[in-house]
Amino acid sequence: MPTILVLNGPNLNALGRRDPAQYGTVTLAEIEQRLRLRATELGVDLRFCQSNHEGALVDFLQANAQQAGGLIVNAGALTHYGLSLRDALADARLPVVEVHLSNIHAREEWRQKSVIASLAIGQVSGLGWRGYLYALDFLAQHRAEAK
Ligand code: DQA
Repeated sequence: MPTILVLNGPNLNALGRRDPAQYGTVTLAEIEQRLRLRATELGVDLRFCQSNHEGALVDFLQANAQQAGGLIVNAGALTHYGLSLRDALADARLPVVEVHLSNIHAREEWRQKSVIASLAIGQVSGLGWRGYLYALDFLAQHRAEAK
């Protein structure tokens, strides 16, 4: 069964109580549970990592990318400046979908730039927690078509 990695960066562990106007009220545990249910339907395995530390995300990628077939990433604020995470994503050589709960293009100027976007197949931004599910559906189909 193919494995898809789901990476969440700093402060995403605080979803549910963090700025609900931007990020909604669904917790990260709930998002992961919804992803698990969908993954079962799609016949894919998921491996999750959330960290507030860029190096921990890099360690996770180095340890898991080789066994994986795709990757969903919401890097939080690292999206905008996390170059060691960007390098690790490039080294992972996986199909990547970048997810943001809020629409980063409609927010402060510094949020509108993503150092990850050019590595990704595409970006889902502003569709809330459902963005993760859309990314998962896309990656499962993308894999099936690539066979
Ligand atoms: C975010 C947007 C980032 O700018 C912010 O730093 C986050 C969350 C989002 O999901 O909308 O932590 O990635």
